[in-house]
Amino acid sequence: MITNTELEQKGNLFPSKIINFSKDVDTLYFYTENDVVLQLTVLRDSVLRFRYTTTGNFENDFSYAITKYASTGYNHLEISENEKFYIVRTSKLICNISKENLKISIYDSLDGTLINEDELGFHWEESYHYGGNIVKMSKTINDKESYYGLGDKPEHLNLKGKRFENWVTDSYAFGKHTDPIYKAIPFYTGLHHNKSYGIFFDNSFRSYFDFGQERRHVTSFWAQGGEMNYYFIYGPKMNDVIESYTDLTGKPHQLPPLWALGFHQCKWSYYPESEVKEITSTFRKLQIPCDAIYLDIDYMDGFRCFTWNKEYFPDPKRMVAELAAEGFKTVAIIDPGIKIDKEYSVFKEALDNDYFCKRADGPYMKGKVWPGECYFPDFTKPEVRDWWSGLFKELIEDIGVKGVWNDMNEPAVMEVPNKTFPDDVRHDYDGNPCSHRKAHNIYGMQMARATYHGLKKFNYPKRPFVITRSAYSGTQRYTSTWTGDNVATWEHLNIANIQAQRMAMSGFSFVGSDIGGFAEQPQSELFTRWIQLGVFHPFCRVHSSGDHGNQEPWAFDEDVTNIVRKFIELRYQLLPYLYTAFWKLVEQGTPLLKSLVLFDQEDPQTHYRTDEFIYGNKILVCPVQEPNAKGRRMYIPRGKWYNFWTEEVVEGGKEKWVDAEIDSMPIFVKEGAIIPKYPIQQHVKEKQIDQVTLDVYYKEGKEQSELYDDAHDGYDYTKGRYSYRTFKLTGKSNELIIQQHKEGKYEAPYKTFKLILHGLPFSINEIQIDNEKIELSHLKENGTTVMTVDKNFSEIHLIGH
Ligand code: NOJ
Repeated sequence: MITNTELEQKGNLFPSKIINFSKDVDTLYFYTENDVVLQLTVLRDSVLRFRYTTTGNFENDFSYAITKYASTGYNHLEISENEKFYIVRTSKLICNISKENLKISIYDSLDGTLINEDELGFHWEESYHYGGNIVKMSKTINDKESYYGLGDKPEHLNLKGKRFENWVTDSYAFGKHTDPIYKAIPFYTGLHHNKSYGIFFDNSFRSYFDFGQERRHVTSFWAQGGEMNYYFIYGPKMNDVIESYTDLTGKPHQLPPLWALGFHQCKWSYYPESEVKEITSTFRKLQIPCDAIYLDIDYMDGFRCFTWNKEYFPDPKRMVAELAAEGFKTVAIIDPGIKIDKEYSVFKEALDNDYFCKRADGPYMKGKVWPGECYFPDFTKPEVRDWWSGLFKELIEDIGVKGVWNDMNEPAVMEVPNKTFPDDVRHDYDGNPCSHRKAHNIYGMQMARATYHGLKKFNYPKRPFVITRSAYSGTQRYTSTWTGDNVATWEHLNIANIQAQRMAMSGFSFVGSDIGGFAEQPQSELFTRWIQLGVFHPFCRVHSSGDHGNQEPWAFDEDVTNIVRKFIELRYQLLPYLYTAFWKLVEQGTPLLKSLVLFDQEDPQTHYRTDEFIYGNKILVCPVQEPNAKGRRMYIPRGKWYNFWTEEVVEGGKEKWVDAEIDSMPIFVKEGAIIPKYPIQQHVKEKQIDQVTLDVYYKEGKEQSELYDDAHDGYDYTKGRYSYRTFKLTGKSNELIIQQHKEGKYEAPYKTFKLILHGLPFSINEIQIDNEKIELSHLKENGTTVMTVDKNFSEIHLIGH
């Protein structure tokens, strides 16, 4: 056991005893003898914020992560004390603050379980080179504790025993265990005694998390500057922890347009125009659904952002319109590096207005990216973000591009050892001037934010679509993301699976990988298996570096094309299900993907599972991640599940072999679920939806499902023009009742639901709809009953013999 004296010898300093405290409405201040102050704010019954200063004064309280919409305003703060502690109680928590040394321990207020306890607690080291402190926190690990979260770490889902760094980094062909990579999301959840809590360390400096690697019983986190400033979020359900974290750092500002949930095709790069058209027309010819086509950097004139190569794309507006007529939305890449070129208007404007980042001693921050030597806008300055947003007018409003892809925004710089800006570069940080040490992790986020505002404005009244590579906590408010430059290997298929789940658990659900792998070339089997996984990721895009051969669905052989089509079609059928889940994300912060531990944390079998996950809240998916497999073993969570392909009902709570030849993958539907489906379309809005299918999976017992709908684009839904239907299913041995409740003012064009009843254990003798016995023709095909009902039914009652 390391002692404080040893740590002090290493330069660590500690708070001394509390000599005083004061109370504001929702905040307490504890003052120590050696000028340390702890500011403890109760945000909600389950959310506490801890902030420490070592000088008696706090920094200006500013964060890019925390949204102004976060729930605050706690007004019944209670504090008491005994000999040893000050004690803060809420309906969920009891927090003890040690009078002796400021250490914190937090208990569940209902049953007294110790949830989280400081080991050394807050301590710090003075930073000789930069001033300020290296701020540190350590906590004891409970024996059975597991850890999750931290964004895009390509590691086992359970982080226990590992150490990580947060410093967003361009990581071409990263591997399993590479750290850090593109994102910095300093938020984790801990789980023990069936109870989960989260810690969000809102500090944008380079930070570290150690989950018992250095010392087996200690979790610690620290940063190379700034304040020790963290939020403690209690569940006890992990889903509630993630929803509260998302309340703090923000839900997506609006639903994506439905087309953005369709299939996207990308390559570095499709050009000239004839090649783009060749790709899009092949999709239509082969009847493979697709909604978006991407233009990578070669569409530009010499890689100058907001310009076009007129040789390759002589008339972008016409091309984009022609693509749109075929149902393709065009997404164009925009990087942060602005070519140093006195003839280039974007460069000139930024130079004239002093919008570029500068080095500490005055020169501009100069670095090489695709266009050669570049300067980089300081996106941390509001004025610069406004200017940047304005640059999208032509691209979006005039030319009609529908989405923007922000890349290289770590920011990536070529041919320099640290691949990014040097530490001394200056940033405005929204009026809190600082060096790149503090701004690095949020630079890409601020770029994506400015891009988002540009799209929102110029695409109005349609919804914006942005995708970013770099992200800090809170970036999910503005944009979707992908996992960066992966590799066409089986290991990377597994990494993609973990990363998407981990991102969803880290509050950022709108995520996908470069399907098939960015670097190198996938064999057809790998590509097929990756598509199968990719269609269950919220963002679904094939992308590749393009220098290793083609990666379109038809680039392999006809069998592959057919299987790929089948899975993309499945994605399109499930669009209303995904859209409903997205609505719950936007409303409540509910993750779109749920790792099994998030789905059922009380089952210890789930704590170390990584492959299986729940898509939305009713569909269990497990990708095949090995070559030559004819199936795989997987863990089926507790409860009963229908095999999606065979309708066989399996009892969960155990591992099971599941057949999955190359044209299949393990998919299960939760018993009792009602899954809405659209007809297959080649792109969103290709067809008017005349009927929605409801796949009803019989259960003896009760289950609730939902269906959200609106105009699929635009903002009318925010004014009540949406429809939210809940379906309550009650199954008995010879009865099935489905009750529907609807809210919202939206009237979808379809009039009827087609009900497909799976696993009904009785043959139907009588059908009542809204208490009236009716003669309804229904077809029975091998245990599956199909019937059409008015979409506004209140209750369907099926009675068996
Ligand atoms: C790096 C990105 O990660 C990749 O997706 C893109 O194709 C290239 N830059 C070229 O723009």
